[in-house]
Amino acid sequence: MKKIQISPSILSADFSQLGNEIKKLEEGGADLIHVDVMDGHFVPNLTIGPPVIENLRKYTKLPFDVHLMISPVHNYIESYARAGADIITIHPEATENLKETIILIKKFSKKVGVSLNPKTEINTLIDEIENIDLVLVMSVNPGFGGQKFMPEVLDKIKELKKIKDERQLKFNIEVDGGINFNNSKIILKAGADILVSGTTIFKENNGDIKSNIEKLKSM
Ligand code: DX5
Ligand code: ZN
Repeated sequence: MKKIQISPSILSADFSQLGNEIKKLEEGGADLIHVDVMDGHFVPNLTIGPPVIENLRKYTKLPFDVHLMISPVHNYIESYARAGADIITIHPEATENLKETIILIKKFSKKVGVSLNPKTEINTLIDEIENIDLVLVMSVNPGFGGQKFMPEVLDKIKELKKIKDERQLKFNIEVDGGINFNNSKIILKAGADILVSGTTIFKENNGDIKSNIEKLKSM
């Protein structure tokens, strides 16, 4: 039985209570904390930066799964690494040289994530696939929580799973955007290892985080 990992996105949390919200996620059984960093340039929204992540670090021992929707991203890797990120995920469109940025993330002993937008093909990262710890498949166009899952990305998940199995690689497939109790089963069946969810975890069942995480894990 595959162990499903849940990485709740704090984009849907109460930003005035982020520390306590993160504690509730850990108590609720989260495996990672998905931190959506947005710069208002790569995506039309603006969220948090390194000082906030640094202050949140003391609230949990769970890995910070930091999704950098910022561009250009290369010169910011160090500050997110030092702020306490454990996984640093970048978009290939946000760097002039994906290989160099991957090398830089590894220099800080962080896990490397590369994120594919719905329209971004697998071949943008295929040359580096053996150096990647996590492929983040976007199932919405990045920038906002609460959007509808885009089923056309299921084929991309299946293709990534095929590459992973054929080449006996270890990268995790993480899916992000519009995940709920009705589509999570089919996403896992397609090959996802980690589910990112914001709206479903924070808003369903009157915001009962623990039962929402448990329900996603039971799929
Ligand atoms: C969108 C973010 C996602 C989003 C997920 O740009 O990368 O992580 O917050 O939120 P839901 O689960 O509400 O789609
Ligand atoms: Zn995200």
